[in-house]
Parts: sequence; structure tokens; C-alpha cells
Amino acid sequence: MVRILTLRDRRMLGGVLIFTSACLLITMLFSPNLNEPISFRGRRTGMTAVSEYGRLLRRNGTVHRRPMPSFRDNLWPDKKYITSWAAEGWANEQIGFANLIWIGKLTDRIVILDGLQPQNWRMKGGDTLWFGDFFDLDYLSGKLGVPILEWRDVKDPRAEYVDSVGCWSSWSLTNDQHRPRGDLKSLDAFSLDVGYTRFPGWARLRDSDVSSNIFKIAQIDTYDGYRDSTWNNVSFESTISKKWMLPDQHLFCIDYLFCSSILHDWDAYDSPHAPSWRQIGQHMRWRADKVKLAQSYLRKAFGLRSSQPIPEFIAMHVRRTDFAHWCDQGVPLLDCLPQPHAFSRRVDEIQAEIYERHGKNVTHVLMVSDDPDPVLEWAQKNGKDWRLVDHEVEKTSEVHGGWYPAGLDAIFLSMASGIVRTRTSTYSLVSAHRVETWNDGPQRQVAWGRKNADDH
Ligand SMILES: *[C@@H]1O[C@H](CO)[C@@H](O)[C@H](O)[C@H]1NC(C)=O
Ligand SMILES: *[C@@H]1O[C@H](CO)[C@@H](O)[C@H](O)[C@H]1NC(C)=O
Ligand SMILES: *[C@@H]1O[C@H](CO)[C@@H](O)[C@H](O)[C@H]1NC(C)=O
Repeated sequence: MVRILTLRDRRMLGGVLIFTSACLLITMLFSPNLNEPISFRGRRTGMTAVSEYGRLLRRNGTVHRRPMPSFRDNLWPDKKYITSWAAEGWANEQIGFANLIWIGKLTDRIVILDGLQPQNWRMKGGDTLWFGDFFDLDYLSGKLGVPILEWRDVKDPRAEYVDSVGCWSSWSLTNDQHRPRGDLKSLDAFSLDVGYTRFPGWARLRDSDVSSNIFKIAQIDTYDGYRDSTWNNVSFESTISKKWMLPDQHLFCIDYLFCSSILHDWDAYDSPHAPSWRQIGQHMRWRADKVKLAQSYLRKAFGLRSSQPIPEFIAMHVRRTDFAHWCDQGVPLLDCLPQPHAFSRRVDEIQAEIYERHGKNVTHVLMVSDDPDPVLEWAQKNGKDWRLVDHEVEKTSEVHGGWYPAGLDAIFLSMASGIVRTRTSTYSLVSAHRVETWNDGPQRQVAWGRKNADDH
């Protein structure tokens, strides 16, 4: 039986996202709510707690002092900064952050990260998750040689002081709507009054592409030509004061960077080269305390005491009902969604490959899913001992916060010796990169969309 969008599913939505040609799809799917009103200025939980890492950086002189009503009072005049904003949930936002950090490295600017927003077209609201609360910013920054701050480190949203700033818009160049990205929650939360200038046409990857080119974006920063009005005369009045502003040179800001790459529309992560993953993403390691927390859940799932080591396991990310709205009208839902037997076959392949490559017989299997019940039912009928951390039973959200089920599931997947992923999920895709790069583990993907889509 397929359940459509139970509470559990909705909780998962913040964490699991989209597509190979995601930029193209987002173009279509985001159309209706681009300018929807948002109103949680300065009041959202978690917005104001400064990161430990921010304290460290302050001592080292990348920002003046504690967060100020105006971010401008907190940036050093002789240093340059770069930022962009998050939309679309866990995986896509992390890919956007990797692109941002890469551009920060190329332009020698201090990066200011937004918080992760638990939003996509079917899940609204929820708290911000600061990147530095799940990921080891100190390690990332040290490894890359790029100072990385978060918005909570530079601006105190409680004062509701309106900062006007001129930024660039990538989205208005590469998206059919020709408007800047309109669903950026942090602009409202941090009272940012942003007036955009469209990227010049040459910042596009190629004429027909829905992505901007990371190297060209870096070039925009060094090119002073935007002061020449003939170079680009497409600008948009600002979000609050309705003013026109030239792009700021102190804070280089861009509306949206998920759809940015260097080779193909989707190469940031989904190509054999995966340049943004290799350059930046692979160094986004989990914080040690989050790994420890994840391990305690895993021990429970495998029925182990706290002193016992966690066995090697194969992981599968089974994303199902969240994809239901992409199923073709003519295809019955049960035929369209990824099939348990297809995952089972792929798990066997992974098991054989691990044995071949590493001489280990890995028999434990862990599942992560937005719709686990039908899959577990199938597993039980077919004698498969597939384990699951049931966040509903564990009350993970209630105990730790709304982001934890998605965040912990991502950590579980990253610890696997091999992984089976669901095709077109970027959450799956990033997880598979972690297993490949961090654990030298094999990966397979399960196709879906019609009956027996994964037969091979
Ligand atoms: C701060 O500076 C010290 C000494 O130069 C260095 O070891 C440390 O890595 C720096 N930390 C950060 C977060 O930049
Ligand atoms: C400026 O705008 C005009 C009319 O809106 C357009 O024809 C022209 O191509 C634009 N110039 C540039 C450099 O974008
Ligand atoms: C791996 O272990 C399982 C279960 O113990 C067993 O059935 C299988 O034959 C083993 N495979 C290899 C290659 O040893």
C-alpha cells in the first residue's frame, strides 16, 4: 500500500530533493510561488545564536565584533566578502553553498553562508539550520584556505534594521521568468533590501543553458564594466525600499547558485567530473558531535550495545512518495515509484562488488526512506533483514529539531560501505558521492517512472 504524504513524509521533504536536470525542472515547478509573502523577520528560532566558528574568526579578524543591527558595521572595510541565499532544502542548498565557496576561493573573498532552509514546493516553514551546526566549518575552511562566516555571525536580525544592498541575479538570466529569485527566506529574516542587476548574458554556460558559469561569475567580480550602463541595463527595484542599486563591491552577492557549473548544466555534482563536489563538496565533513549522535541511532537500529562497534553496512536511499507528482498520468502509482525488488537486486550487486574490490562480505543493510512501510513489508515477506532508523518512533524532530531526521539520515548514508540511490534525487546523489569519495564504496542507482523501469 502506498501512503501519500503522511506526517513522516512531510518531515522528510525538507531533506530530500531533486533532479539531474534540476535547474530546468525548478524553472517549471517554482513558477507559481516566486513572490509569495514571507513574514518571520528576526523572530525565528536559531537565527541569533552566533557560531563557535564565528567567534574564532572574529579573533582572527574577518569580522569586527558580535553581530550588529547593520551587517555593514561588522565587515572590515579593507576585506571583501561574498554571499548567496538558500532555497530548496538540504541537498540543493549544499550544492549551492559549494558553488559559492568555490567562487569565494576564486575571487579571494570571505564567504558568508546563509542557513539551510527546509523549503521546497511542498513544504513551507520550519526553522533554519545553520550549516556550521551540522558541518565542520573549521575543517572546511582550513582545508580550502577560505574564511567562512554565517549570516548569524555578522547581523543581528532582532533589531530589524533594514540594510540595502545591490546584488547580482543569476536566476533572472538563466530562468524563463527573467526575474530574480523570489523565495529567499533570509532576505526577510535579516531585513535585507536587495536590488538586483541581471548577470550579463556571457555569464551563462551556453546560450540555451539554464546554468550560469562559475568561472564567469568570478570574472564579473573583477570586471568593473558594470558601471558602464551600456554593458548591462537590466536591473530590478529593491525588495523593500523599491530603489535601484548598483551591485555592491564590498559584498559580492548573488541571488541563487544551485544552477551554476562549469561544463554542463548539471555537472556540479551529476557528472563523472562533478567539479564542484571535488573542489569543495567533498571537504564538507560532519561535525564530530553529529557523527557521535548518528552512531548512537545506528547502534540501536542494528540492536547493539553502546560499547559494540557498528558493523559495515550497505545503505539504500529509497525515495518514493515524494516523487509521486512526477509520475506520468497513465502510469499506476505503484508501477511508477521505485520498486523494493529493484533495490534488493541492486543491494546484491553492491554486495558482490564490495566483495570483489575489498574481499569483505558485507551483509548488513540500512534503509533511509520517505515511505519505508511498503518497502519493509516487502523485505519481511522476502526474508530480507533491512534496518531502519524510524524517526517517528524515535521522535527525532521533537527531541533535536525539525532538520535532524534529514541530517542524521544523510550521515547514516555517508557511513555506508556501498550505496544504492534513487535516480533523480540530489539527496541521493550527494550521499553517493560521500560513499564513493570518503569510503571508496561502490554505488548503483535505481530507475523509476514506469513498471520494471530498473530491469536490466
Ligand atoms: C586563526 O589563526 C590561527 C593562527 O594564525 C590559525 O591557526 C587558525 O587556524 C585560525 N582560525 C581560523 C578559523 O581562521
Ligand atoms: C538595453 O535595453 C534596450 C531596450 O530595453 C535593449 O534593446 C538593449 O539591447 C539593452 N542593452 C543591453 C546592453 O543589454
Ligand atoms: C556472505 O554471507 C552470507 C550470509 O552469511 C552468505 O549467505 C554468503 O554466501 C556470503 N557470501 C560470500 C561471498 O562469502
